[in-house]
This record gives sequence, C-alpha cells and structure tokens, in this order.
Amino acid sequence: MQRIHLASDHAGFNLKEILARHLSTLGYEAVDDGTHSTASCDYPVFAHRLCQAVAAEGTSGILICGTGLGMSIAANRHTEIRAALCTTELHARMSRCHNNANVLCLGARVTGVELALAIVETFLATPFEGGRHQRRLDLLSVRA
Ligand code: RB5
Repeated sequence: MQRIHLASDHAGFNLKEILARHLSTLGYEAVDDGTHSTASCDYPVFAHRLCQAVAAEGTSGILICGTGLGMSIAANRHTEIRAALCTTELHARMSRCHNNANVLCLGARVTGVELALAIVETFLATPFEGGRHQRRLDLLSVRA
C-alpha cells in the first residue's frame, strides 16, 4: 500500500480530512501529520514535520494551507523536497512528469474540493519522465 503523508494548518484542516478519507477509499495509506483541528496554528511546523518524514521514507506528501504559498515556501527549504503548488490538473501532471515533485501543495481557500481531488489523483497517477528532466533536477542545488 502506497504511503502518502498529509499535513495542514488550520485553514487546510477540513480539506485534509476530506483528502485523507478519499485517499483511503482509493487504497492509499494516508498518514496524518497534523494539524488535528481548526484551531489557529503555524504552517511551518507542519510543513517541516511532513517534509522530514517524506525525505526519510522516500514517500510522497500533500501540504495544505489557506493559499498553499506558505507551505510551498517552507517545504522547498528542504533540499530533498520538490514541492509544487498546484491549482490545475496541468500543474499536477507537469509537476510529476518534468519536476518529479514529491510534495503537492494545495490552497484550501483557493481550490475547491472537487478540483483538489482531481489534482491529487493526477499528481499520484503521473510518473516522472526522467532523461533531460533528471539532468535539470540535478542542477537545482548547484549555484554558479
Ligand atoms: C493562515 O491565515 C494563512 O496565512 C495560511 O493558511 C497560508 O495561506 C499561508 O501561506
């Protein structure tokens, strides 16, 4: 069973709960890294928790905040993480086939539930193309 980590702040909590149930019905093991209520909290805490787990396990994750922006900024501070803020299914597909994204970021105040579910399914179903895209990923941590 493929393991998918999920984490959010208060703004993303409701969407996280919906996604966790949806992923379970699709046969994934959804691992909930918090937050566990709509009480106000700080998104970097949950982004770092999820990213450390994803990097250690070599799995994938989904981070949700109000816009997805804070989560993506925090997640991309981890060198092993390629986090993609997606608002369309095209973003989700390209983030996998060209960028080999291992963390999907969503904005619960930006993206409706049905679209979010479609983005998640596309993200999880799309393979990395490799080849010239791997060369470019290898350059991400190389500074001139
Ligand atoms: C919380 O109000 C909001 O700032 C947060 O969910 C997120 O959108 C930050 O980028």
